[in-house]
Amino acid sequence: MTLLVIHPAEAGPEGAIAPQRSADPAVIGAELGARGIRFERWPARTALAAGASAEEILAAYAPEIARVQTLGTYPTVDAIRLTPDHPDRTALRQKFLAEHTHSEDEVRFFVEGRGLFCLHLGDEVLQLLCEQDDWISVPAGTHHWFDMGPEPHFCALRFFANTEGWVAQFTGDRIAERFPRLDELAALAG
Ligand SMILES: [Fe+2]
Repeated sequence: MTLLVIHPAEAGPEGAIAPQRSADPAVIGAELGARGIRFERWPARTALAAGASAEEILAAYAPEIARVQTLGTYPTVDAIRLTPDHPDRTALRQKFLAEHTHSEDEVRFFVEGRGLFCLHLGDEVLQLLCEQDDWISVPAGTHHWFDMGPEPHFCALRFFANTEGWVAQFTGDRIAERFPRLDELAALAG
């Protein structure tokens, strides 16, 4: 289940779960929208088999992809899949667990599985457990981190303005260490 948790950024080292949380997509969309973060739920593609190829996925979501590409400057889209047995899963997870920014929007749609986006917006940290059918656009320059968990399982569409431009600039802030990770929030979400 998709879950949004809003913490004060100064949460203690115990990483207590703040009471402000919602699993209602309408509430999640409104909370994120109020902070300039675009979030959508796309209709599930029940005919799309688990483990479908990138070509099949891109074809299945062609209408939504076309809409996103007319709204924003994302001429490039691809589909990636991470599985629990990926040989580089630990290194990949660690890299994006540290707070960073990008010079372009980070735009993702979850075709399968889930991942945890954590957005550090001033005096708040928003943790969004994204699941299948969730689309999110994290604006360029937003301080954030991402947890795919110790055994990653997701397939995502990635929209790019410029594939070379999607490079992480690490802030050096260790804030991510004070907040719950994917497994903890997934347990809450059920
Ligand atoms: Fe990122």
